[in-house]
Amino acid sequence: MEDGWLYVASASSFLFLLFLFKLQRSNKRNSPPSPPSLPIIGHLLLINEPVHRTLQSLSNRYGPVLSLSFGSRAVVVISSPSVAEECFTRNDIVLANRPCLLCAKIMFYGGMTIGFAPYGPQWRNLRRLTALKILSPHGLACSLTGRLEEVRLLVKSLYEVATAAAGGGGFTRVEMRSRLEEMSFNIIMRMISGKRCFGATVDAGDTEVTRRLVELIKETFELSGMDPVDFLPMLRRVVDFKGRERRMVDVAKRSDVILQGMIDELRSRRKRSDSGREVESKTMIDSMLLEGYSDDVIKGQILSMLSAGTDTSAVTMEWAMSLLLNHPDVMKKAQAELDDVVGRDRLANEADIHKLPCLQNIINEVLRLFPPAPLLAPHESTEDCMIGGFNVPRGTMILVNAWAIQRDPKVWDDPTSFIPKRYEGLEDDHAYRLLPFGMGRRSCPGAGLANRMVSLALAALIQCFEWEPIGEEPVDLSEGTGITMPKREPLEALCKVRGCMIANVLTQL
Ligand code: HEM
Repeated sequence: MEDGWLYVASASSFLFLLFLFKLQRSNKRNSPPSPPSLPIIGHLLLINEPVHRTLQSLSNRYGPVLSLSFGSRAVVVISSPSVAEECFTRNDIVLANRPCLLCAKIMFYGGMTIGFAPYGPQWRNLRRLTALKILSPHGLACSLTGRLEEVRLLVKSLYEVATAAAGGGGFTRVEMRSRLEEMSFNIIMRMISGKRCFGATVDAGDTEVTRRLVELIKETFELSGMDPVDFLPMLRRVVDFKGRERRMVDVAKRSDVILQGMIDELRSRRKRSDSGREVESKTMIDSMLLEGYSDDVIKGQILSMLSAGTDTSAVTMEWAMSLLLNHPDVMKKAQAELDDVVGRDRLANEADIHKLPCLQNIINEVLRLFPPAPLLAPHESTEDCMIGGFNVPRGTMILVNAWAIQRDPKVWDDPTSFIPKRYEGLEDDHAYRLLPFGMGRRSCPGAGLANRMVSLALAALIQCFEWEPIGEEPVDLSEGTGITMPKREPLEALCKVRGCMIANVLTQL
């Protein structure tokens, strides 16, 4: 009798295991292709820096919809325009979520900021505020003066260096990275709080605080992105990789103090000037205070704008200048266009931008070759869905390899060469093969601002100066590490004042 029970128990356990095995197999059926993986860590050992390049070579082998496991997390990598289009049209809502990452929880106010918040009411509210107010055409028109002023100051500083060192007549060596970073930071800080961070007109008392803020934003950026603990959560109790989690907590605390100080200052300024009448909301903080947002939401919004907008724009300008230095014919063409459309009596302004197709083609081509977010930002599926004909389960992290799509020889002729004229005569039909700002609901709300900043700055640099690389060699275009794909070496170049711009523009700055 006992033997009989044992037999029944073993047979049912066997059938149960078989059922589980079949269930797992049937769930995996019609999954996207995947390389062999190891237990627990999955494909993590295959993923080396730079990640977009590693994923490109895996996609070349396994196809444009690739399934990976980063530890316990299922990941699908997309590397074709048609599948990207499917993600951001048919599946746009299902994929509008973000994975919940450790860096977001610790440094971005519990992951409830615009860039990290799950698809839901909080995100919708912040997105409305950001896209329809702060960064809307009207919002951007209100912050125009700040942008023009910062570009003017950039040109002025270069003019002073060039005239002091070479009497204005010859070429002078200048370092560009820090200048472009400072300009982007100043432009966005002026929109946020009305204050500049760098330069002669910054109050002495503010200099130290803003210097610390800039360092903290850089550190936040460096610690943002995916952490090993995001894929192997059980390790969190055992080991803090390179002290990352402790650093995140420390950075979050220190930046919170500075951001709170910015809000308190504007709040008391409003109180002082608010003698019964409504104060005009000039800055982002002012308008958020006026609308009754909590301090934590405002701090999260400041952090989001600074971290999403400053480095991305500065890196784009640095790559643009590097590529132009290596293609003097393209630089000359852009200069001729500016002379023709804007003339030599004033700097270009934002109303000129749409009349400068050559400059716009240059910017498109820079963003094609060197997108500052090569994998966009990670998305996550909120339901089971089909992508490219494959089953993708709920909770899968979706990475769109914009870098690979934008360099795919099946999609672009001569994909690794810098050829701005490839866009001539093309009416925006390159939507899903050129997607540096992403597409769909979670696409970048700062694309318009970025385009204005980059266009204004490049136009002014090309209008006012002649540029040459240092030495005989072309500028080195190697990529460094970091989530915005920076140039490995900071750009240095030779710059010379254009004589025709001195009398009416440069001496009037
Ligand atoms: C050349 C400059 C820039 C590039 C290439 C860029 C690119 C991107 C990309 C690829 C995304 C993610 C899209 C996705 O998830 O599919 C994004 C998101 C975002 N960007 Fe930008 N960006 C730039 C400048 C800016 C600026 C100037 C701002 C604002 C000051 C900004 C604010 C944001 C925000 C808030 C998000 C999160 C949107 C959301 O999750 O709903 N970006 N950006």
